[in-house]
Amino acid sequence: MNIYYNEKDLNSYLEHLKVNNKTIGFVPTMGALHLGHASLIEKGLQQNDIVVVSIFVNPTQFDNQEDLVKYPRTLEKDTKLLSRISKTKITVYAPTVEDIYGEHVQSTSFSYDGLEHEMEGRFRDGHFDGVGTIVKRLFEIVQPDKAYFGEKDFQQLMIVKKLVEKHHLPVQVVGCKIHREKDGLAMSSRNMRLKAEYRKAAPFIYKTLNAAKEKFGVSSANKVTKWVENQFANHELLELEYFIIANVDTLKTVKRKSNNNTYRAFIAVYADDIRLIDNIALN
Ligand code: PAJ
Repeated sequence: MNIYYNEKDLNSYLEHLKVNNKTIGFVPTMGALHLGHASLIEKGLQQNDIVVVSIFVNPTQFDNQEDLVKYPRTLEKDTKLLSRISKTKITVYAPTVEDIYGEHVQSTSFSYDGLEHEMEGRFRDGHFDGVGTIVKRLFEIVQPDKAYFGEKDFQQLMIVKKLVEKHHLPVQVVGCKIHREKDGLAMSSRNMRLKAEYRKAAPFIYKTLNAAKEKFGVSSANKVTKWVENQFANHELLELEYFIIANVDTLKTVKRKSNNNTYRAFIAVYADDIRLIDNIALN
């Protein structure tokens, strides 16, 4: 498997592909790869000649320094997982912080027409500036035809689409379904940090989202929200940060539902000190 550690080496490889009219799919990641990431890569392989997977723990998108320090860095294990998917069609780009940022490790400020002020933007200061900065930089380096993002981070997916639209970036952003464990827990690099009892409790999040979806068919958004808040108030291990029912286009919390709109429920929960997010389509 090809692994490149800097922009220059990656570029000379990609140039050769582009001259030969090969299409390039791109899956940006922060590593600690799991089957959720693999599902994006597999979709990329179906739709392109090769897939570039970037593995880079982006310092500017962490609002919590401890999270950044503790973020798992498992390059060797990651490349093993990737070579099981394809030995010839995947290229890894694992740059250093310096390669990406030079001397100034800081993010640019972006406006995403208000999408950045909702949910994760409200609870994670500067997060989407960091995401926009790294994704734009990576798009400029890789120049992919298509780029794949998971609905697991639905707000991020919407924000990347907005970034591409506003900056006229020549890439098609493809959204991919949430990949789950057998018990329903959305796959995440953070799951491996959960202590056993919290890991056992965590599927409650998806169970509650499903129940909320059912209730949303017959109740108001407000009533469903209150119901979910109650479920967590009574839970011994899981602490709710937010549960929000939002319009998928604006990500604004719904006040009164209408038949013409599409809604999604979003949730963030603390399991001990590990923050888990998930979401579900409601209609
Ligand atoms: P990371 O958390 O590594 O996720 C990389 C991609 O995998 C994201 O698009 C994310 O939504 C997707 N993903 C993660 N878990 C998934 C699951 N269970 N099912 C489907 N897709 C899943 O998201 C980031 O990294 C970073 O913010 C990044 C975009 C790389 C910028 O630094």
